[in-house]
Amino acid sequence: MKNQVGIIELNRPERLNSLNRKMVSEILEALLAFESHEDIRVIVLTGNGKAFSAGADIEEMMGDNPISLELLDQFSDWDRLATIKKPIIGAVKGYVFGGGFELALACDLLIAAAGTEFSFPEVGLGVMPGAGGTQRLTKLVGRTKALEWLWTGKRISANTALNNGIINKIVASELLMEESMKLATILASQPPISLRLIKDSVNKAIDYSLHEGMQYERKNFYLLFGTEDQKEGMSAFVEKRKPNYQGK
Ligand code: CAA
Repeated sequence: MKNQVGIIELNRPERLNSLNRKMVSEILEALLAFESHEDIRVIVLTGNGKAFSAGADIEEMMGDNPISLELLDQFSDWDRLATIKKPIIGAVKGYVFGGGFELALACDLLIAAAGTEFSFPEVGLGVMPGAGGTQRLTKLVGRTKALEWLWTGKRISANTALNNGIINKIVASELLMEESMKLATILASQPPISLRLIKDSVNKAIDYSLHEGMQYERKNFYLLFGTEDQKEGMSAFVEKRKPNYQGK
């Protein structure tokens, strides 16, 4: 932890951080630990070595069958991952492939090192993404590009990812963590309950109609007037001083 920012680093570089089931469970455990840690306001998820992650561990899953997959129910970990309420910044570099791309898309904001490549290569293995890739990518870039990228498995450059709203920023490789921590520190200084309810409302925009979403947003707006941070933020403005948010 640094400045109220919790850092999770994928650490299986010899296999390009390919995600075996144990690793996905450990990522989830670390996220849940940070979620319930009072002093942590923002989470940064990153890789090491030459890949953020080259996707699900192919050797581990190659012997699976429909029933073993149903019984394993490995994607329930991915569902829980999507329930984290604190902001998650993905700091990605190198290969962001398959399940690694899905993990990146499950983050809230993404900063990529120059030269990062994104791809859904599953089609080349006779399968398809199973941890949200077809859904999250389509909602971000639209059906036409999603189908092209998923059907061909082509590599998407960081520039194309930026131009299509997949990532927030491209930075020099050696500045990846510094820039990600800068953004995380800005978020950590914001009122935590506002961040949480903004994430909640924005996520609802994906599933709800405009009318339902606006009703939902309104309730969250009202809720914030029950927080001490609303009093602090508005008093600080009137008193012309910097606010100090406590997350209450
Ligand atoms: N699963 C298991 N092992 C993997 C892996 C993966 N996804 N990706 C890389 N590795 C292993 C390699 O087998 C290799 O191991 P050895 O040293 O024992 O041979 C090691 O990591 C280093 O990889 P490479 O030598 O291949 O490195 P490279 O730089 O030449 O190539 C790459 C990099 C282009 C990313 C290539 O490794 C590759 O194509 N990997 C597979 C990518 C892929 O198909 N991902 C999708 C997985 S399916 C999925 O993710 C399903 C889902 O939606 C949940």
